[in-house]
Amino acid sequence: MQRDLSLDFLRVVEEAAIAAARTMGLGDRHGADKAATGAMRKELATVPIKGRIVIGEGERDEAPMLFIGEEVGAPPKDGDNFPEIDIAVDPLEGTNLCAAGKPNAITVMAASERGGLLHAPDIYMQKLAVGPTCKGAVDLEAPVKDNLRAIAQRLDREVEDLVIVVLDRPRHEQLIKDIRAAGARIRLISDGDVAPAIAAAVIGSGVHAVMGIGAAPEGVLAAAALRCLSGEILGRLVTIRPGDVERMEKMGIKDPKRIYRTEELAPGKNIVFACTGVTSGDLLRGVRFFGEGDRTHSLVMTLQPHNVRFVDAVHVDREGDCKIRFS
Ligand code: FBP
Repeated sequence: MQRDLSLDFLRVVEEAAIAAARTMGLGDRHGADKAATGAMRKELATVPIKGRIVIGEGERDEAPMLFIGEEVGAPPKDGDNFPEIDIAVDPLEGTNLCAAGKPNAITVMAASERGGLLHAPDIYMQKLAVGPTCKGAVDLEAPVKDNLRAIAQRLDREVEDLVIVVLDRPRHEQLIKDIRAAGARIRLISDGDVAPAIAAAVIGSGVHAVMGIGAAPEGVLAAAALRCLSGEILGRLVTIRPGDVERMEKMGIKDPKRIYRTEELAPGKNIVFACTGVTSGDLLRGVRFFGEGDRTHSLVMTLQPHNVRFVDAVHVDREGDCKIRFS
């Protein structure tokens, strides 16, 4: 990617978050998703790229907008030579969280030069995400207690001091028992495993690792973020629902047992990652509305140049004075 597109993508996730946040707590997960997806698509149509959705809302026949294969970007005028970009989106990561007004709902996208993001099928993935200090110390096939010991050692603390985030699902019964038996602490979450995977790579967030089975597309989005944060995510596809094997084959994935490392989930050289808080969470504050406009909190990262930016933005919608608070 020649031009720095990070601010364009920041606008995309900000607008999606503002639209989704208007639906917060209304109990309408479809309405929330639709609002975020519509806003994201509208903003993407202004970005000077020849974009292609590689991870999106689903197949063309089941998703009216931002479906896999959809072309996005501003219409080129004569002489424009826009870069070809692959895009992964989750317009509202944690639709249930937003609908219930719970923490950690975010709007997310990642972009790369063509081929820089794994075309992950919409099936489950077993994941293990850690921060930069623990990179290379964990193994998806190792017993849970060994991974916890390795993480604790790298972080120079006791296993008992660790906080591991796990999706609260019946499929994690054994994993939860194993983590507890090893002595680590657990934060069970109802939804949204991308935000904690990012948090695991940020010192002081209070999250040391994310373990368990979540959605594969979210694994690619987390990998794009962790490339920018020098963290690590290991992932292996899990075929447990009817049609999963076919979905995997359709995406050209031949080895179902393969363990993907961060650089294989998001191999791009020019990755851009952007997310905005919809509801407040570990790393980002949610959208706040006030008389004249709204305020968003986002994380925007690029690999080349290697930048990590937290962006606290005030969007003034109405004419007149705008009083800005410190925080
Ligand atoms: P949405 O973005 O569709 O709301 O997904 C939220 C999520 O909780 C992901 O973060 C997670 O990886 C996945 O769903 C878990 O799937 P399931 O709810 O089927 O266990």
